[in-house]
Amino acid sequence: MTTATQGLVGTAHPRVEGRDKVTGAARYAGEIPFAELAHGWLVLSTVARGRVRALETGPVLALPGVLAVLHHGNAPRVETDYTGLLGGRPDPSAALFQSDRVAHRGWPVALVVAETSEQAREAAESLVVHYEQEPHDVDFSAGRASEAYALDSHVPAVAEKGDLEAALAASAVVVDAEYTTPEEHHNPMEPHAATARWEGGRLEVVDSNQGTNWVAGELASLFSLDPASVRVRSEHVGGGFGSKGLRAHQVAAVMAATVLQRPVRVVMTRRQMFSLAGYRSPTAQRVRLGADPDGRLRALEHRALNPTSAVHDFVEPSAAAGRSMYAADAHHTASQIVRLDVPTPTWMRAPGEAPGSFALESALDELAERLGIDPIELRVRNEPEVGPVSGLPFGSRNLVACFREGARRFGWDGRDPRPGLRREGRWLLGTGTAAASFPTTAMPSTAAVTAEADGTFTVGVNAADIGTGARTALTLVAADALEVPADRIRVRLGDSDLGPAIIAGGSMGTRSWSWAVTAAAGELRRSLAPGADIPPEGITARSNTAEAVAALAQKERHAFGAQFAEVAVDPATGEVRVRRMLGVFAAGRIVNPLTARNQLVGGMIWGLSMALHEEAVRDRASGGLYGADLAGYHVAAHADIGDIEADWVDDPDPDDPVGIKGIGEVGIVGAAAAVANAVWHATGVRHRHLPIRPDRVLMAGGDA
Ligand code: MOS
Repeated sequence: MTTATQGLVGTAHPRVEGRDKVTGAARYAGEIPFAELAHGWLVLSTVARGRVRALETGPVLALPGVLAVLHHGNAPRVETDYTGLLGGRPDPSAALFQSDRVAHRGWPVALVVAETSEQAREAAESLVVHYEQEPHDVDFSAGRASEAYALDSHVPAVAEKGDLEAALAASAVVVDAEYTTPEEHHNPMEPHAATARWEGGRLEVVDSNQGTNWVAGELASLFSLDPASVRVRSEHVGGGFGSKGLRAHQVAAVMAATVLQRPVRVVMTRRQMFSLAGYRSPTAQRVRLGADPDGRLRALEHRALNPTSAVHDFVEPSAAAGRSMYAADAHHTASQIVRLDVPTPTWMRAPGEAPGSFALESALDELAERLGIDPIELRVRNEPEVGPVSGLPFGSRNLVACFREGARRFGWDGRDPRPGLRREGRWLLGTGTAAASFPTTAMPSTAAVTAEADGTFTVGVNAADIGTGARTALTLVAADALEVPADRIRVRLGDSDLGPAIIAGGSMGTRSWSWAVTAAAGELRRSLAPGADIPPEGITARSNTAEAVAALAQKERHAFGAQFAEVAVDPATGEVRVRRMLGVFAAGRIVNPLTARNQLVGGMIWGLSMALHEEAVRDRASGGLYGADLAGYHVAAHADIGDIEADWVDDPDPDDPVGIKGIGEVGIVGAAAAVANAVWHATGVRHRHLPIRPDRVLMAGGDA
């Protein structure tokens, strides 16, 4: 059925691959059949620091089906002195087996390859590895002296404006508080999996990742290959959240396929993912806010510390979010790192903003309490005209509209601000709010659109649909650009041979790919003569948005949102239930309300989970995690979720051809603070350390 011929962007559309997914026709990386396939199984270190002294490979090689054991003594050498797509050198934990050093517990020390996955696992688990163990240090706390200011490729570590101490001294009210967030793990439902093979002189890798160019580029650099001779495909991805870039499994598969000259697959187990897939580092944050009696901020200071590994720097830029949020005469923000014997953390949904907003938006709530000003009004009074630190104009900033619409729908007006007053049987009830923001950026991408002889159109763009609905969004964008129904569009993505395009990350994907698709479609329409015959091979137009993106004026570009939560707290058990959440976002033109709502509600649920459940606990003695699996690592489950709704205000990006900003991460931002602020309103007790576990609620006591 073909009905609408234009205006599909903004209308609800089910996922174009939805049927394939629910019927099993859509295959994930670890399920795609290969002839002559061998299976690799990673062996991870059981010590947190030291050297591999010896590996008893003899008995393992004699086991049934075993083909090879790769380790630092025999693995191919790789090149690590290069700058990758996202800046920086590769993490040595992914550039496998290049030395005998062990930098953390769970460090990959060997790969056992066998005919079957079961044989590989059996052999890998029987491999005896001898270590020279050294004392390790995995102990993170606010008191740790930071060893470095980390440089992030996008966000400067330190930004300072004005005289902070003078502004604090001149403030009528000062909030000075420390907040912590624990180590958190993304662990997408589909584990990391890659199959590598050499085919006709080309390296071919079938993988689960957030950008095939990214992984192909890294593999070409590591193995000193011509980039044109590396092809990476990743058609369906069961979640990424920042964890699916270059990881040990792809490098292991390529090494083994090279040595054995046959296809090799390496899949991470869920437990291995807790060591190899990256994670969100814990944070220790200090916020100082100084304000006049009317709530106007004189001083904003936010300092954040996070651990990274001993071998690779990663900064969680938690302090950066405030730079575009609130005006203040003196504005000091800094994100620092301390190097410990732990795995390298990585990007995880709203890196920086997710933990940073917990601290900053909790502190704002504490300031509102001290001043006797409504928390929404306090934020309105500190709305900046231009970037508070940058001085740049905002592309569009509709934060206040989100709060106004959210307050109306949530029933905020008339809220009694006093804490600990509302009872319903054994429950204490409270409501809280917090702001959300995330940068929105467009990055250069290429696309090709082909008019086929049968009247359909093929769109080739190397996007990654990691479960977001990108394939569907791009279908709608292409249909509008070509003014044809969606069922005449076929989108091909997830293949590095399609040409360069930005990764699915940083909330940049849909906007950047849509721009390229719109440009290629426009080019095609200009080159098609009305009524002309289309040859059997079709007519193709290509785009590259590099120049257009580079020509964008310097601006503060962000998506915004207002988060609301209502909680019920049982002071006898310490249990916190989130009854209602509402998020109202200003996040550019929404391409597909169905998948957008899914993305935003998913982020909000994650924020709830972060507020109440998630915490990976590192054992000082072993250097590893307690309960590194989805039984030991608690996440919000269905029974934890009440009434959660996400909606948006009209906010088309003025500088984007389709009006898109990006909604990948903003949904989680501020959600944990809204829950924590609601717990304060319910109980009168501030929780500055996540998660707000029942024991913490009980120990804190409160007005109840
Ligand atoms: Mo996202 S943390 O940019 O994959």
